[in-house]
Amino acid sequence: MAAAQGGHGFGPVRPVELPDIGVTRHDGAHLRLREVFQGRRTAVQFIFVDCQTACPLLGSLFRKVDKALGDTETQLVSFTVNPERDSAERLAEWRKSFAASPRWMGLRVEAADLPGLLAVFGQESGPPTGHTLQVFLVDSSGRYVARTTELPGAAAVAAALRVDANQPDANPAKVGEVASGRDLFEGRGGVMASVGSDRLDPRAARCSGCHGGAGEGGGEGKTVVPSLRGTALTKLTPRRGGPASAYSQGTFCASLRSGVDAVGVQFSPLMPRYEIDNRSCAILWQFLTNGQ
Ligand code: HEC
Repeated sequence: MAAAQGGHGFGPVRPVELPDIGVTRHDGAHLRLREVFQGRRTAVQFIFVDCQTACPLLGSLFRKVDKALGDTETQLVSFTVNPERDSAERLAEWRKSFAASPRWMGLRVEAADLPGLLAVFGQESGPPTGHTLQVFLVDSSGRYVARTTELPGAAAVAAALRVDANQPDANPAKVGEVASGRDLFEGRGGVMASVGSDRLDPRAARCSGCHGGAGEGGGEGKTVVPSLRGTALTKLTPRRGGPASAYSQGTFCASLRSGVDAVGVQFSPLMPRYEIDNRSCAILWQFLTNGQ
């Protein structure tokens, strides 16, 4: 069974490649932004050293994430939004105050490049006081792919980073590329989901994790996980004590999004809700009803 992750989780965005600008790292090294982000999955936050309200929260968040990540090939980046004042040395001290490991970098771009960088992450530039508590995810090919809407929990950030570190095939589908039915069924389609108020990443919410590798259904303890085989979905059957019903593509897709079945009976809270678009859902439906 997939485990729910606490805190505010990540939602996917249309992937954007980071600009190829110069950056200075906290140790004074001058690097290209793209080389810093190449090859590792990275969580990004915006801070500035003199900030007393939000930044201690952001710093202690990354401190927890840093500890939780253990030996994984992942990175944390704190960009200063006050490059005029925050030198590499100041960033180094700030990092040190959170006992940051080498995976956690402080980065500074030139003031002229800052608005462009912020715009990639959907942030307006302005006085450094007005910066965000959101955390942003950049994949191992240097593309911004997901964000939280507010300050997330450390577990959610660590989980989002780990997905790609341990499961290289769990990347959200590339733009313009449509995931196959099997990919969607096995959690490689980039479809986000939630259980209650906990957000699940696509891999954790894979259908096959609960419904079985062939959609055969099963259960754990008292929980019954129904079969998703085409015949089971399209056959007129009483479900959850309601009147007999059969799924069509439309009611199936509506149920995945709403958590309510074809005759209006609510699913058990264990069945996640999916943010799946019509096109992907049609492909998944085809796969379940014709593909196996
Ligand atoms: C965390 C476990 C879990 C995951 C992941 C999961 N399901 Fe379920 N699903 C359930 C459980 C439990 C039920 C039974 C709900 C009930 O009967 O109240 C269920 C019920 C359903 C039903 C209703 C079937 C019926 O006979 O009425 C459909 C359809 C369904 N799931 C589709 C999916 C699809 C498609 C995915 C992947 C996109 C998926 N589920 C992922 C646990 C899960």
